[in-house]
Amino acid sequence: SLSPAEAGKFAAARRSVDFVEDGMRLGLGTGSTAAWMVRCLAKRARDEQLDLLCVPTSEATERLARALGLTVTTLDEAGHLDLTIDGADEFDPSFNLIKGGGGAHLREKIVAAASQEMLVITDPSKDVAALGAFPLPIEVLRFGLASTRSQIEAVLAEEPVAKREIRLRGGNDPLVTDEGNFIIDAHLGRIDDPEALAVALNKIPGVVENGLFLGMCRTIVIGREDGSVETR
Ligand code: A5P
Repeated sequence: SLSPAEAGKFAAARRSVDFVEDGMRLGLGTGSTAAWMVRCLAKRARDEQLDLLCVPTSEATERLARALGLTVTTLDEAGHLDLTIDGADEFDPSFNLIKGGGGAHLREKIVAAASQEMLVITDPSKDVAALGAFPLPIEVLRFGLASTRSQIEAVLAEEPVAKREIRLRGGNDPLVTDEGNFIIDAHLGRIDDPEALAVALNKIPGVVENGLFLGMCRTIVIGREDGSVETR
């Protein structure tokens, strides 16, 4: 039986695969909620003999999808996608998101941008009035790291709280993303102007991509501990 937190994620994941239709090309998100979705999707595909083409957003999701028998391909092979289903770390009333708590926001954003629709699966713990309590992940190149960090600090100087840290994978070793980069987690507390911040961060040459997903998601499925689901 599932813990209350997992029960909500599972409920959202199970509902999200109802949006999948035979013949679709799908983007598969990353994280614990997305992993439930991959399991539910694989079951539906098997039970109903669906013909689906899946593009995973991380090595971890690719391993899971392949192990469960889903047909996996690259974004270049698939071309345009019909639907991407992914989790999020925070969502606001405008359906703007913070993602990248799982370190996969770069591929996630590329895949979502190549999709007709992005569906986000979440639980009430991610529902916020304003983004920023969750540290904003910023993927950066390793080359010129110190210079990139100081340019990020300059951009964040305007923000209320501004602790920045290189994400570690345990011990003192930096986490290396699937694309071979580092992640800086920026603790901001509250982001008043996500659009301006996203533009300013992405202007820095060593910044590969930030975790703000603005205007990309139109549907959010929220799963609760009691198994009920709300679609917004
Ligand atoms: C992965 O990089 C993130 O964008 C995830 O979507 C996010 O961390 C949500 O993960 P959980 O579903 O495990 O909360």
